Amino acid sequence: MGRGSRLWGLLALLCGAVAAAAPSPPAVAAAAPLLCNVSLDSPAEERWLPVLRHFDPAFLRAAVARVIDERVPKWAHEVIQPIAAELELFMPQPFAGEIVGLCKALGISLGDGVLLNFAYESTAFCTSIVAQDDKGNIYHGRNLDYDFVDILSKITIDVQFLRSGQVAYQGTTFFGYVGLWTGQSPHKFTISGDEREGGRWWENAIAAFLNRNYPVSWLVRDTLSRAEDFQSAVLRLAGTPIIAEVYYIVGGVSPKEGMVITRNRRGPADLWPLDPLGGAWFRVETNYDHWTTPPPFDDRRTPAIKALNATGQQNINFDTLFKVLSVKPVLNNNTVYTTVMSAALPDKYQTWIRTVK
Ligand SMILES: *[C@@H]1O[C@H](CO)[C@@H](O)[C@H](O)[C@H]1NC(C)=O
Ligand SMILES: *[C@@H]1O[C@H](CO)[C@@H](O)[C@H](O)[C@H]1NC(C)=O
Ligand SMILES: *[C@@H]1O[C@H](CO)[C@@H](O)[C@H](O)[C@H]1NC(C)=O
Repeated sequence: MGRGSRLWGLLALLCGAVAAAAPSPPAVAAAAPLLCNVSLDSPAEERWLPVLRHFDPAFLRAAVARVIDERVPKWAHEVIQPIAAELELFMPQPFAGEIVGLCKALGISLGDGVLLNFAYESTAFCTSIVAQDDKGNIYHGRNLDYDFVDILSKITIDVQFLRSGQVAYQGTTFFGYVGLWTGQSPHKFTISGDEREGGRWWENAIAAFLNRNYPVSWLVRDTLSRAEDFQSAVLRLAGTPIIAEVYYIVGGVSPKEGMVITRNRRGPADLWPLDPLGGAWFRVETNYDHWTTPPPFDDRRTPAIKALNATGQQNINFDTLFKVLSVKPVLNNNTVYTTVMSAALPDKYQTWIRTVK
């Protein structure tokens, strides 16, 4: 046994000690993503460039090509590519500027940049949970499931959006995707989005987009940026026209501030709040309306509810919520990442990239 291996043993011990003291030790193989700062005080076209330096542009270009090739219908290409230049003027800020800046830096066409952002809007299968413990603390967790786990696990990032050097809001996304499926406005609220299957996704989404509806992940980011509190976040998320159906799950900072919003493109189909006094201390949303039964071939809801029941309201916290999100098939081969968060404790925002196979 050489000096080297003893040193490794000591290091392993030290690391073990550190891991044991961490707030949410992962139960299974998982890694924290790159944490980056994006300054909202920089011009939209430039603000992602410091993050781009962490990635290999050739890998990113290949990833963009593959996602678009496998996800975007050919007709959608033919509609979007010729009008891409006009879209720049048509799309709301800061999204337009950020996509333009990223496309220029990567040397891809604006049409591809827009289509890439649409491709990530479609077919995201997920599980979101909002829960209240017996002291009134709100916890919110989510798994994001998507195809291309191999690519997406390499470009998943936690982003802090800074205004005047302070974290205005933060979220988790894929590099190049300027919307957010997961995010937090510190000391105010947290949001996650889960896809709701409305059929004919591309036809409806492009028509609604040309009608100036927001992509669903842009509304999440816009709400994180503007809403003052839980109630105003719920109102924005429920009422703003969007390009596709979706479930928005929202957590606040005070007791009872938890809500699942079932969305149509025009407005809310249903609001489903926490009801802790009535015994409903958590809400689970996957990709099916909560008033229906999930199909037997994709029931992630029942295992999540069983695991929450087994955990108990007095024991729910960041660590146990992560464990619930690690129960199969809530955690599955398409799970790219898990995030646990609580707006009242913004520093505890934690994402894990899941590498379970
Ligand atoms: C990001 O910005 C925050 C707030 O200004 C700062 O404390 C932190 O060190 C920065 N992190 C990175 C990774 O640059
Ligand atoms: C969870 O617990 C509630 C309340 O006791 C019960 O009604 C429900 O059937 C349980 N669900 C599962 C899936 O175990
Ligand atoms: C997940 O991946 C493992 C290993 O590649 C495979 O054995 C298993 O069948 C997969 N599960 C599903 C549900 O596809």
